[in-house]
Amino acid sequence: MFLLSAEQMMIKAMAMAIHQVQQLVGVGVGVLLLLLLNAGGGGVECRKGRVLESFDYSAINCRAHSASIEEFGGVGDGVTLNTRAFQAAVDHLSRYASDGGGQLFVPPGKWLTGSFNLTSHFTLYLHRDAVLLASQDINSWPVVDPLPSYGHGRDAAGGRYISLIFGTNLTDVIVTGENGTVDGQGDVWWQQFHRKKLKYTRPYLIEIMHSDNIQISNLTFLNSPSWNVHPVYSSNIIIQGLTILAPVTSPNTDGINPDSCTNTRIEDNYIVSGDDCVAVKSGWDEYGISYGMPTKQLIIRRLTCISPYSAAIALGSEMSGGIQDVRAQDITALNTESGVRIKTGVGRGGYVKDIYVKGMNLHTMKWVFWITGNYGSHADNHYDPNALPEIKGINYRDIMAENVSMAARLEGISGDPFTGICISNATIGMARKAKKYPWSCSEVEGISSGVVPTPCGLLASQGEETQPTMCDLPSDTPPTPIDSIQLQKCSYRTMNYL
Ligand SMILES: *[C@@H]1O[C@H](CO)[C@@H](O)[C@H](O)[C@H]1NC(C)=O
Ligand SMILES: *[C@@H]1O[C@H](CO)[C@@H](O)[C@H](O)[C@H]1NC(C)=O
Ligand SMILES: *[C@@H]1O[C@H](CO)[C@@H](O)[C@H](O)[C@H]1NC(C)=O
Ligand SMILES: *[C@@H]1O[C@H](CO)[C@@H](O)[C@H](O)[C@H]1NC(C)=O
Ligand SMILES: *[C@@H]1O[C@H](CO)[C@@H](O)[C@H](O)[C@H]1NC(C)=O
Ligand SMILES: *[C@@H]1O[C@H](CO)[C@@H](O)[C@H](O)[C@H]1NC(C)=O
Repeated sequence: MFLLSAEQMMIKAMAMAIHQVQQLVGVGVGVLLLLLLNAGGGGVECRKGRVLESFDYSAINCRAHSASIEEFGGVGDGVTLNTRAFQAAVDHLSRYASDGGGQLFVPPGKWLTGSFNLTSHFTLYLHRDAVLLASQDINSWPVVDPLPSYGHGRDAAGGRYISLIFGTNLTDVIVTGENGTVDGQGDVWWQQFHRKKLKYTRPYLIEIMHSDNIQISNLTFLNSPSWNVHPVYSSNIIIQGLTILAPVTSPNTDGINPDSCTNTRIEDNYIVSGDDCVAVKSGWDEYGISYGMPTKQLIIRRLTCISPYSAAIALGSEMSGGIQDVRAQDITALNTESGVRIKTGVGRGGYVKDIYVKGMNLHTMKWVFWITGNYGSHADNHYDPNALPEIKGINYRDIMAENVSMAARLEGISGDPFTGICISNATIGMARKAKKYPWSCSEVEGISSGVVPTPCGLLASQGEETQPTMCDLPSDTPPTPIDSIQLQKCSYRTMNYL
């Protein structure tokens, strides 16, 4: 394993001290005198250093200590495998967890790597021209247990390949950059999936489990083997400014999957994918019911989605731990199958309730509103046929859609109607080749107001079209806890020593 020499560490410590002095006295970029303790002779010599570049970013916390992946033997040539360098760097910086935390800088280059683990009070910062290239060698991917709330992997019954960037039982962890890239090189995985050759479930690009205070921001994620960003069993999460791209035919390339998480804010993301752009989850059938951890207090705003075969936002299908208090605002979807879709079925149990969607601008859709009560797709045959999901309080308002094949397809479960569905102020422009009947509703109860074309009888219209009764919105006072988090201005500086 590559380690820093004592001298290098000393230089770093000195550089840090100088940075701090610089910040205190407001000295700009320039030549500085660096005191260097000579590790060999024990003497003191003078050394000049220059701040080459300074990178500023917003974060939930700044760090007192910094390192670059190059100091740990990392080589950004697209060929050298850097897994050990990343793990050594994180392990080294983890020593500063209780001393101001550490940030790891990834400079321009193509950094081929297998999976590595994050640590607490830690920032991974990618330069805008840095690309983390996921290794296509299956041996770079250790296998871990299935998630307890799922009981099984999703592609195969047993374990799962660990995610490229993985963290568990952490607090205060940040992955960010100036739009640096994480490239999953997923095509080999998609082929294995289609040929049914996978022994284990495909890896995700980033998964953070059992953790608190998480920020994932301003990065591009390309071609994930499967899901892209998966926070699970976690709380206080900000996911902002991501560009997530995968071929629209690639299998299960969901964009962002908040799963059994509390207090999450997902905003300003642009996603083109082969599956749901945002998929809200909370476990699968009897495993999710017994784990019993809901996703709640979730805000999704300013999402742009292109996903011709899936939804802009899906709630489910794995929702057995419950989904409650989701607020989606300012959603734009183009050439996407549906808007905010609920997927569930007999055996799932759990609930989806208190969902508030305000402001959707949609273009070229199959269904604007889609609720599915017979999704199927069970973890195994041991699901409880009496475990019926409770779907209620689903509010949609201020919807503008064009070129739509069918306004809605709303299907509850016989003996388990989905209730409290409200749609107001929605103008749906039908496609030239639209279906004959724009609404199809069964086993649902609710109301509508100011909706064109006229909804099905199960959502009887209330009030006049000119003065529509509006569907509920949660009150905004006090602000949700995740919205009261303030970001700080942080920086990373590269030095060169003369
Ligand atoms: C992301 O980048 C935008 C634009 O540069 C910036 O305004 C925002 O603060 C950044 N957010 C985070 C969380 O890094
Ligand atoms: C990363 O974390 C996982 C799960 O805790 C563990 O199985 C794996 O050994 C860790 N990897 C390293 C390199 O420490
Ligand atoms: C991580 O946290 C979970 C939930 O609190 C706990 O069950 C598990 O034992 C923890 N794992 C480790 C390695 O500490
Ligand atoms: C980030 O990079 C992606 C991919 O190159 C690009 O499509 C996107 O516009 C960039 N985002 C920003 C904010 O520069
Ligand atoms: C109806 O929705 C549109 C956006 O689709 C919005 O501009 C308008 O203000 C809404 N009307 C009311 C009465 O809120
Ligand atoms: C409308 O939708 C159809 C698919 O249903 C698509 O082929 C067509 O290009 C769309 N038209 C426009 C103007 O976007």
